[in-house]
Amino acid sequence: MASKISRVGVALELPCFSKISKRVPCRSSSVRVKSVVSVGDQKKTFTLEKSQEAFNTAKNLMPGGVNSPVRAFISVGGQPILIDSVKGSHMWDIDGNEYIDYVGSWGPAIIGHADDEVLAALTETMKKGTSFGAPCLLENTLAEMVISAVPSIEMVRFVNSGTEACMGVLRLARAFTGREMIIKFEGCYHGHADAFLVKAGSGVATLGLPDSPGVPKAATSKTLTAPFNDVAAVEDIFETNKGEIAAIILEPAVGNSGFITPKPDFLEAICRISKENGALLIFDEVMTGFRLSYGGAQEYFGITPDLTTLGKIIGGGLPVGAYGGRREIMEMVAPAGPMYQAGTLSGNPLAMTAGIHTLKRLQLPGTYEYLNKITGELVEGIINAGKKTGHAICGGYISGMFGFFFTEGPVYNFDDAKKSDADKFARFYRGMLEEGVYFAPSQFEAGFTSLAHSSEDVQQTIAAAEKVLRKI
Ligand SMILES: Cc1ncc(COP(=O)(O)O)c(C=O)c1O
Repeated sequence: MASKISRVGVALELPCFSKISKRVPCRSSSVRVKSVVSVGDQKKTFTLEKSQEAFNTAKNLMPGGVNSPVRAFISVGGQPILIDSVKGSHMWDIDGNEYIDYVGSWGPAIIGHADDEVLAALTETMKKGTSFGAPCLLENTLAEMVISAVPSIEMVRFVNSGTEACMGVLRLARAFTGREMIIKFEGCYHGHADAFLVKAGSGVATLGLPDSPGVPKAATSKTLTAPFNDVAAVEDIFETNKGEIAAIILEPAVGNSGFITPKPDFLEAICRISKENGALLIFDEVMTGFRLSYGGAQEYFGITPDLTTLGKIIGGGLPVGAYGGRREIMEMVAPAGPMYQAGTLSGNPLAMTAGIHTLKRLQLPGTYEYLNKITGELVEGIINAGKKTGHAICGGYISGMFGFFFTEGPVYNFDDAKKSDADKFARFYRGMLEEGVYFAPSQFEAGFTSLAHSSEDVQQTIAAAEKVLRKI
């Protein structure tokens, strides 16, 4: 079993990671590749002709041309890029442009994309089949690894996405407490299930209104919202809804409003208030799990919730999610208990394999020190470049997770985040893309580094940022 890795330490040794292999530009398309932007090489003309053509086709095939909205570049404008391949910290689009990638498939790629060991393990597993629909040993192995790493988890249930994990944990919290109301925080995202799609910014303790057509009012009427980092707002909600709150769910460090950290004592206060009121505390660690530290945000901040959701990293790039917590709560889940939840592909051997090998790599000494060092270099470099070029800018990072805003700050919640100059971010974004740097195409998404990101990647990114920041 994995030993728990402390965040304390000075070792800045880089655990071994895959070398970035040379890639050939993609082959098929009727449109000629004009040029290739190669990071580090002299810059040539940047073109997205093939992406443009393919995206135009995609728009007739899939809503908005994509299978997840943010990928359409709506908030940054311009042309979305279609990816051909990934390796290490880099990716290549179908026009042959190369990028340093700070999205990491939205989090899973913490040891770098297409890691050789993970690919080899997947190939071996695949020889035995891709899905069994029956228990397998790999599920035990990953479950043991998760349980030994994450302080709150004594039992775990694997599902196929973060959304599914959050849906499951919500039903479980309601089943265990016999209560229906939940508190979520403005700007936190817990997947696209109805109950979580509640308009942010409504008044404290106001009953939630659906954030999307198609969500029945009844589905969100039990969802109450508070601003992140606002203890008094949470106390007020409990005061006016005595004995009715099943759970508080939150991202312990927010990644879905940009990157926002909890104020000192915020998590402790939320933990205390939920206990005093007989409500469960749920950390949604789909993003922060195995990222802020091996034991997630709960280990990093030293606060143990009742229940936890995971996703992304524990599937090593394959579809996965999980929820877990105290044994007495988890034993309510079917078939051990009466709370029903199931899944055709849950615990499938490929996702389990990629997860196991990703976590094994993360256990090597120096992992989180390296992520913290490289991310610090990146964020401090970009903020310094911003200040040097006369922009209001602030930002932060923990381990391999970061964000920055075009505002003086500080940013404590979603309303603060919305003060960021979105037009400037869009210009910055498109400029960086042309310089061969791929950030998340939205101001309201965190960035991610990986063990494959080198100091050279970071220095090139900072140089590109300074160049772009001078122009915008
Ligand atoms: C904190 C958090 N919870 C839940 C989800 C939903 O996960 P998925 O996209 O795998 O459904 C996400 C997705 O980014 C997330 O960041």
